[in-house]
Amino acid sequence: MKIGIIGAGPIGATLSHKLHAKGHHVKVADARGLSHLKDKEIAGEAVALEQLGQDIDILIISLPLAVVPQIKEMVSQLKNNVIIVDTTNYYPFRDAQITKIEEGMPESVWVSEQLGRDVIKAFNNQLAYTLSQKGSSQKSDNRIAMAVAGNDDLQKEIIMNIADEVGFDAVDNGTLQNSWRQQPGTPAYCTELNSDDMTKALERADKAAAPIQRDEVGKYFEPGMTHEDIVHLNRKLYKVN
Ligand SMILES: NC(=O)c1ccc[n+]([C@@H]2O[C@H](COP(=O)([O-])OP(=O)(O)OC[C@H]3O[C@@H](n4cnc5c(N)ncnc54)[C@H](OP(=O)(O)O)[C@@H]3O)[C@@H](O)[C@H]2O)c1
Repeated sequence: MKIGIIGAGPIGATLSHKLHAKGHHVKVADARGLSHLKDKEIAGEAVALEQLGQDIDILIISLPLAVVPQIKEMVSQLKNNVIIVDTTNYYPFRDAQITKIEEGMPESVWVSEQLGRDVIKAFNNQLAYTLSQKGSSQKSDNRIAMAVAGNDDLQKEIIMNIADEVGFDAVDNGTLQNSWRQQPGTPAYCTELNSDDMTKALERADKAAAPIQRDEVGKYFEPGMTHEDIVHLNRKLYKVN
């Protein structure tokens, strides 16, 4: 497929490599301009934002959530059948307070509202290291799962297949309104679960507790923590396994 990615941070850059390696035609843009991609290790073609939307099937948005309104014009020029994937998460310390999200609007519903387009939420509930290093084949035991939410079943199925291609079982987390179940502070968030446990974790999510737990986790971060330490901490605090 022809895939455009906005943002070349750990998630966008990793996806560029994985999707390129699977034979997709990948283009990457930075929301501020091409020069910001100069030192980035991306696969595929680096292009200006204005060129990214030309002739793509899927647009992956991998930016700090608060930057999303800045790409509205570019998104408004996309063809209606382009699938838009939202990988973002909301962290108030980084994104500043966004009132509607603070009041309970699911983060990707807010993104969708900003863009005036429906989105599929995916690639948000695993750490970048998990995405880059811990994908495995369908036959592996305990293959890690990721949640995918969205309103359009066909679009969601296409993105679930992409998740599978890059090494992960995809678990259908219902509509975009339901996508809060895979947000920061929930048991499904960055806990590296297999598909059965991911399904249970999504069911167990507590909407009121999630933002409290999200902020609580941050208090336990220490310099020098390894990836495994962080996953272990998440599992402990979210009472997973
Ligand atoms: N990292 C993870 O483990 C992880 C896991 C799941 C989901 N996510 C979510 O996925 C999204 C992307 O995260 P990420 O960790 O890959 O990278 P990120 O630090 O959010 O940066 C993503 C891209 O946005 C650019 N950027 C930063 N500030 C910008 C601004 N003001 N205007 C325009 N572009 C800007 C970055 O450029 P520079 O590199 O030049 O700053 C980078 O190319 C975030 O919403 C994040 O919460 C992250």
